[in-house]
Amino acid sequence: MRKLLFNRYLDSKNKRLSLVFDVFLWSKKKNATMVKIGDVNLGEFPLLLAPMEDVSDPPFRALCKAQGCDMMYTEFISVEGLIRDATKSVQKLDIYEEERPIGIQIFGANIDSMRRAAEIVEEAKPEVLDINYGCPVKKVVCKMAGAGILQDIDRMVELTDAIVKSTNLPVTVKTRLGWNDQTKYIEEVAERLQDVGIKALSIHGRTRKQMYKGEADWTLIGKIKENPRIHIPIFGNGDINSPEKAKLYRERYGVDGIMIGRASIGYPWIFREIKHYFKTGEILPPPTIHERVAAAKQHLTHSIEWKGQKLGILEMRRHYTNYFKGLRDVKQYRAKLVTNDDPAILFAILEEIEERYSGAYVQ
Ligand SMILES: Cc1cc2nc3c(=O)[nH]c(=O)nc-3n(C[C@H](O)[C@H](O)[C@H](O)COP(=O)(O)O)c2cc1C
Repeated sequence: MRKLLFNRYLDSKNKRLSLVFDVFLWSKKKNATMVKIGDVNLGEFPLLLAPMEDVSDPPFRALCKAQGCDMMYTEFISVEGLIRDATKSVQKLDIYEEERPIGIQIFGANIDSMRRAAEIVEEAKPEVLDINYGCPVKKVVCKMAGAGILQDIDRMVELTDAIVKSTNLPVTVKTRLGWNDQTKYIEEVAERLQDVGIKALSIHGRTRKQMYKGEADWTLIGKIKENPRIHIPIFGNGDINSPEKAKLYRERYGVDGIMIGRASIGYPWIFREIKHYFKTGEILPPPTIHERVAAAKQHLTHSIEWKGQKLGILEMRRHYTNYFKGLRDVKQYRAKLVTNDDPAILFAILEEIEERYSGAYVQ
């Protein structure tokens, strides 16, 4: 009898131990798949909104956040503008509690200016400070800022080192594969930037020379992920425009997360569609006309509030095409939306679209 009781005792103890062990393994596995930038936890396989000038502002970011975007960046901000206290640059530092975690992106070339700008950014209290080494625009690269610095990797490392040392924020970098086809040094760049302390790297799979032409090539991004020395998150960027492509590239290149730019313009639902597909393998039906009009109205309202009527209305124009993509004869409405500058008329046109196309997009 005593032996039987003792065996039962051992048995239940073993079961408890095994349960504790299982929970330990599960939490370890879960933590291993969590993506972190420094202490900022982005969850499993985060979807990031790419920084986009005149696009990824607070009104647009709010829409992306509501659709499941895990992390976003401000549009790039000139360090010289920040230091001069230029209104446009300073306004871009505006961030809102509900959009966290967020990174503020800066670009510049002068080490002292970058350091000073990093201090200003820190005061705005984002989760992350991101450096732009990818902007291909001539007036930026000719000053050796943005992608210009891809011509001088030593200088890039020196600049990054100085910024990492001058701020308490986790520093991340967004860049391209290289300056041109002959100088795709991104594998070396990833190692060296990690060594000076950056906490994540986003890579657009094109060179500066390509600008936005051709197809983004993620092969080297995949190679970086195979490098055992690399331990910071690597985010892939370039041409992701559907849940299927997101899944294919996630599996093929082993990245830690994906950054999405153009496909989100006028279509913030891309985030929820990708998330849903990852979770269930099913493609969600497209947003209804009511959702689209509601989003366009919210976007327009916030744009006017945040930028003022003139600029708010002007910068909304690039979004309408995508909000109402594929609707038969929508051109006539779009033409009115991009030429009118009276908010009351714009809202009336949006309501007209909603009425005329109710039932559209339903599958
Ligand atoms: C209108 C527009 C503005 C952009 N502005 C920025 C920017 O401010 N900073 C930056 O790092 N990249 C900028 N980019 C590049 C995007 O972040 C992204 O790398 C590029 O569009 C490729 O991703 P996609 O194919 O998902 O659009 C911009 C792209 C577009 C289309």
